Amino acid sequence: MKAMFITFEGPEGSGKSTVLSAVQKKLKDKSIDVMATREPGGIRISEQIRNVILDVHNTEMDARTEALLYAASRRQHLMEKIWPALEQGKVVLCDRFIDSSLAYQGYGRKLGTDKIMEINEFAIESRMPDLTIFIDLPPSVGLDRVFDNHRNVDRLDLESLDFHERVYVGYKELIKKYPDRIKVVDGNRSIDDVVDDVLSLIDTLF
Ligand code: TMP
Repeated sequence: MKAMFITFEGPEGSGKSTVLSAVQKKLKDKSIDVMATREPGGIRISEQIRNVILDVHNTEMDARTEALLYAASRRQHLMEKIWPALEQGKVVLCDRFIDSSLAYQGYGRKLGTDKIMEINEFAIESRMPDLTIFIDLPPSVGLDRVFDNHRNVDRLDLESLDFHERVYVGYKELIKKYPDRIKVVDGNRSIDDVVDDVLSLIDTLF
């Protein structure tokens, strides 16, 4: 089994974290050496940065500060956890990565993808994922799920529907731009169906 870096993307409430856990379990059952992690976070320093970014009280945060914090958190996470795991030959499943910054900060915050790519290049040194799974769900449906499920609501969940619609449009543009890397899975179905589709996509890499 060769090392592989697979990221999961999608709007709020798309179910990607649940899907990721189920996929992790299925791969483990097949004796694949798999590690799951998330952004922003995954390690101590990056979880601390996550708390600063997502704190609902930090309403004064500037959009560029937000973008830089995501990139900083990403860098530390790559250095401490993701790259070492890939060097050990693991399959790494990461809940969100650079496409979240391109969609949320590039489109949602209107900073533009060029600027976001530029600051992220400093963080990731051109090491993009091997595969990105986009769990597709309209933002209005996803946000309803978030508020209905009473999951912890964070600063970005509280953005307007307009913001989340821009993020969604952004993802659609990224899918067009990186068709070989980003694969779309319909998130408006049962978790089992979504997981089956994701496993088939991962199989094509093996
Ligand atoms: P989560 O809810 O999937 O854990 O993600 C946390 C929030 O952070 C979510 O609203 C998406 C947002 N986010 C960005 O805006 N930019 C990023 O680069 C990342 C990784 C997440």
